[in-house]
Amino acid sequence: MTWITFASIALLFAQDQRVLAPYTRPTLIAHRGASAYAPEHTLPAYRLALEQGADYVEPDLQITKDGVLVCMHDTTLERTTNARAQFPNRARTENGRSTWPVADFTLAEIRTLDAGTWKGPMWTKTQVPTFQEMIDTVRGKAGIIPETKAPEIYGKRGLDMEKLLMEILTSNQLDKPGSDPRTPVIIQSFSEASLRMLRTKHNCRLPLVYLTPSLGKETPEAHVTRVKQFADGLAPSVGAVKTHPSLVKEAHKQGMSVTVWTVRAKSKADADATRAEMKSLLLEAGVDAIFTDNPDLFPRK
Ligand code: G3P
Ligand code: CA
Repeated sequence: MTWITFASIALLFAQDQRVLAPYTRPTLIAHRGASAYAPEHTLPAYRLALEQGADYVEPDLQITKDGVLVCMHDTTLERTTNARAQFPNRARTENGRSTWPVADFTLAEIRTLDAGTWKGPMWTKTQVPTFQEMIDTVRGKAGIIPETKAPEIYGKRGLDMEKLLMEILTSNQLDKPGSDPRTPVIIQSFSEASLRMLRTKHNCRLPLVYLTPSLGKETPEAHVTRVKQFADGLAPSVGAVKTHPSLVKEAHKQGMSVTVWTVRAKSKADADATRAEMKSLLLEAGVDAIFTDNPDLFPRK
């Protein structure tokens, strides 16, 4: 077979694929783990996500006072832990509200917290995991898609989230595309500055995706063209995809994958509708990957 023939067949195969790199099939991302069923960002939620067939598991990242990456969505501890009861005298007041920032507490202190009871008594004493523990739990079984969460808040405290992230990925030999084919890594952020920092200052070659709640006044074409300067993929909200039906096609035209967030069942009775919504996003809207709280409802066919 000549190289020209081989290249033509390869091109035909590529054109036939329904999803764009870094994805290889319609992709299920467990949002905060299987967070509909277990306390978000805990090891039980990550393990359940694996049992439910997640292609990738999502950790949102925060940094402790002593500079350790932990998995948590909020920058503060009070919604998902018993910090209020455990550390009653350590609150800050922000906008008239008491709050317990993650960055005010050492890892040892955070380890004393209960991150499960808010979800139900069966999860009592579940701890906040470190990112390293999350990696150890998921590695070899699924991909990992960490989000640099509010990195600017940590920057003001002298904590460098991008540096810590690249250090831990490097020490786990997960810092390059293909490092571990069973555990691909994609980095996501709402922060353009964070993604730019990863690519330029830290020479990060891993796929980067940019989270966008809304396009604002940008047209889909202008949005994709802008994001392409610092990321490899778009990650719009479901609302943004529905508001701009041409967004996915425009992204694909410019070689950008589309990862949409977040699909969740409002109740157990909502399972069929939730499955149908994901099917419609994949087959009609044409997205490549979906973040969902309900990995068990992802339509594989
Ligand atoms: O990262 C995708 C999605 O999780 C973005 O929303 O607020 O749940 O981190 P959030
Ligand atoms: Ca997230």
